[in-house]
Amino acid sequence: MSGRPRHFLDLSDIDSATLRGMLESAAVCKSDRRGHAKPLTDKTVALIFEKPSTRTRVSFELAVRELGGDVVVLSGREMQLGRGETVADTARVLSRYVDAIMLRTDQPEKLQELARHATVPVINGLTAASHPCQIMADVLTFEEHRGPISGQTIAWLGDGNNVARSWIEAAARFRFHLRLATPNELAPPRRVLDWARAEGARVELGEDPLAAVRDARCVVTDTWVSMADDAGESRHNLLAPFRVTEAVMAQAAPDALFMHCLPAHRGEEVTAAVIDGPYSVVFDEAENRLHAQKGILIWALGGGGAGG
Ligand code: CP
Ligand code: NVA
Repeated sequence: MSGRPRHFLDLSDIDSATLRGMLESAAVCKSDRRGHAKPLTDKTVALIFEKPSTRTRVSFELAVRELGGDVVVLSGREMQLGRGETVADTARVLSRYVDAIMLRTDQPEKLQELARHATVPVINGLTAASHPCQIMADVLTFEEHRGPISGQTIAWLGDGNNVARSWIEAAARFRFHLRLATPNELAPPRRVLDWARAEGARVELGEDPLAAVRDARCVVTDTWVSMADDAGESRHNLLAPFRVTEAVMAQAAPDALFMHCLPAHRGEEVTAAVIDGPYSVVFDEAENRLHAQKGILIWALGGGGAGG
């Protein structure tokens, strides 16, 4: 590949029209899952997991294969990376073998370092700081159910974690109004909010869950204890008032959706009645990881569109 590789590290790095193009490719792929074009033919993607995964692992592997490519799936532990080989050397070596690298790691610095030294595209499969692939699938899911997300109000309740941060960046890129209610101690970083507001996004942060969800078209939450977190007990105490219950959903718009990236903990961040109820689109989100990943891969690998 000539020129700078098309890394997919964060939504803030990529302009709105390009992200929109990925979602359009994703929708084309979804509309003809078995018959769409195979622009990854003869390409191989390395999928590196330093942390557990079900959805990201399976959806990336299938996305690459269904686009005509092949995958090498690696766990950090079984690589020399796990016993001290530098990220820079790993990036240089893998770039000689494969056409793109996806990494899931706790450490955002490691992802950045990999991207600095790789000569092939690097894709963020989740770090402690962000999860942009998830939010691409979530925007696709919202729009399938409720039409354009631009101008809509989305509410985030709970931890101001990696998924929340990518939602904040998405509010700038996809032009929706985001209201977050998090405990002060677990608020998302100021610089992420400042970045989004400087980009013209309407992002509000408070500590009142009912105020955040009022008339929202979608209520989103996530686990109270992410893979990178410790101190589970104190987080539970802080986050209990932010649980998404039917009473919370009743304050949202009458047709509000409920979203969660999964894995979920029923009875903690969300009640079973909500996540298993009529507002919930959590399994559509999970399915759409597959389709959204295709849009991301097609863009990153610079192939033709998905249409033919
Ligand atoms: N939502 C998500 O990224 O799930 P996994 O951790 O199973 O990949
Ligand atoms: N916030 C969660 C998301 C899992 C997909 C975590 O980082 O564990």
